[in-house]
Amino acid sequence: MQFTVKAGNPLTYDTPALIIGCGTDPAGNPLLDAVSTALGGVAARMYESREFTGKPGTVKVIHTLGALPAQRLLLVGLGDLKEITPEKVRRAAGVAAQALVAAKVGSATSLLHQAAPVAGLLEASLEGFSLGSYRYDCYKTKDRQEVLLKEVTALFFENDDRDLSAPLAAATAAICDAVRMTRDLVTAPGNLATPPYLAEQAREIAGRFGMEYTILEQEELARLGMGALLAVGQGSQHPPRLVLLEYKGGADGAQPVALVGKGITFDTGGISLKPGPNMELMKHDMAGAAAVLGALQAAAALKLPLNLVGLIPLAENMPDGKAYKPGDVVTTLSGLTVEINNTDAEGRLVLCDALQYVQQFNPAAVIDLATLTGACVVALGHDATGAMGNDPQLLAALRQAGESTGERLWELPLWEEYGDLMKSDIADLKNAGGPHAGTISAGWFLQQFVGTQKWVHLDIAGTAWEDKGRHYLPKGGTGVGVRLLVSYLRNLI
Ligand code: BES
Ligand code: MN
Ligand code: ZN
Repeated sequence: MQFTVKAGNPLTYDTPALIIGCGTDPAGNPLLDAVSTALGGVAARMYESREFTGKPGTVKVIHTLGALPAQRLLLVGLGDLKEITPEKVRRAAGVAAQALVAAKVGSATSLLHQAAPVAGLLEASLEGFSLGSYRYDCYKTKDRQEVLLKEVTALFFENDDRDLSAPLAAATAAICDAVRMTRDLVTAPGNLATPPYLAEQAREIAGRFGMEYTILEQEELARLGMGALLAVGQGSQHPPRLVLLEYKGGADGAQPVALVGKGITFDTGGISLKPGPNMELMKHDMAGAAAVLGALQAAAALKLPLNLVGLIPLAENMPDGKAYKPGDVVTTLSGLTVEINNTDAEGRLVLCDALQYVQQFNPAAVIDLATLTGACVVALGHDATGAMGNDPQLLAALRQAGESTGERLWELPLWEEYGDLMKSDIADLKNAGGPHAGTISAGWFLQQFVGTQKWVHLDIAGTAWEDKGRHYLPKGGTGVGVRLLVSYLRNLI
């Protein structure tokens, strides 16, 4: 999506749609008064009749029929204007974007960022427009939305904010493009997005954004001893891969931040087969890997002055004559042995070898993202990512990034007592801990493969996929993690 920043008078500005932020109280909104007066007091009438309340989530499209150069007026509810936050504006812009898509409007002009003197509203509103108007429609041969919102102009009254705002808008566009790319990968069907396909996408991104790309294929994985990753992939026709991307924007030798993403391109559960209903959603079990690719793309596009390592273990978890099975014992790259008691607990197996492998880069911090446990959806629902780790500062920095991006985190404990759940009679560990504390026991398992580095594990099982479609999250892959990680990385510099 194209963002432009301009100065101008909304009353004389020619645009297909003019977007105005509105509070639950119509008083104290001179902009609303001005445009409404030009239309014979339409806003006052709509508030009086309660056709429009200004509550969050509400929007009204009004045709101006020549009363203003703008062809349409969009009134967008922001709730109490005294309590505006970037996230409220992001959501309101998402709601406006949905209305514009429904009205087949391809280009619009927004004043949402002028609703209150609060920092961050310009970026938040642009994010809402870009992410709210996103559609995954490449497989529609009929009834395809022919007009999508393609450009948004943020209008400033005559002032000099614009000079600062143009680079902000450009950076926001680059970040949103990365989120949209991530959503494309997450929502892509499993027959397209196989391990080799995702590896190829990673190679393409690396080429386009000047990153180094390394791919480890089966023989190499076997030679290194990645028995856990290989076991998960061995039932599939599509062989497992380990993809490494390196972005070198920082000083030579500066310790990188390592991002590791679970890349199960489809999770049937394997021999411990998942139930049929909703199994199709398990095409999104590579959302962690896709978020890592998106974050690297955005960091490279923004030319962030730091070094990054992205590592994505890719496999498809299938039942088959060759598949791994309950009772098997696998030897991980670390040397630790794992007894498989459930082939559906496969994410921690591909991640444990990746977390071991990443240690050779001597990272300043390791952050892994994974759609790891259904238990996390039970615990936190769809409004928070589960976070666990070994470093309070790293956790706090990520929590802070979560608050400012609206990709919120909630911490769970990793006390050593939880390790009792993962004891095996015949191996060092087992891979599934039973019905209690499922998110934590998975996190505890991962911790056994983290060395001395600072590490945080993010369980995005509840946040990577949107079932219903709301504000700036249309149905499908959400791209969660990209904006969070980029915000965290930008705060480091
Ligand atoms: N990919 C799933 C977790 C998941 C569930 C992600 C729902 C997104 C939405 C993971 O591989 C899995 O199957 N986990 C098991 C672990 C159990 C066998 C210990 C689970 O959560 O049931
Ligand atoms: Mn599984
Ligand atoms: Zn899985």
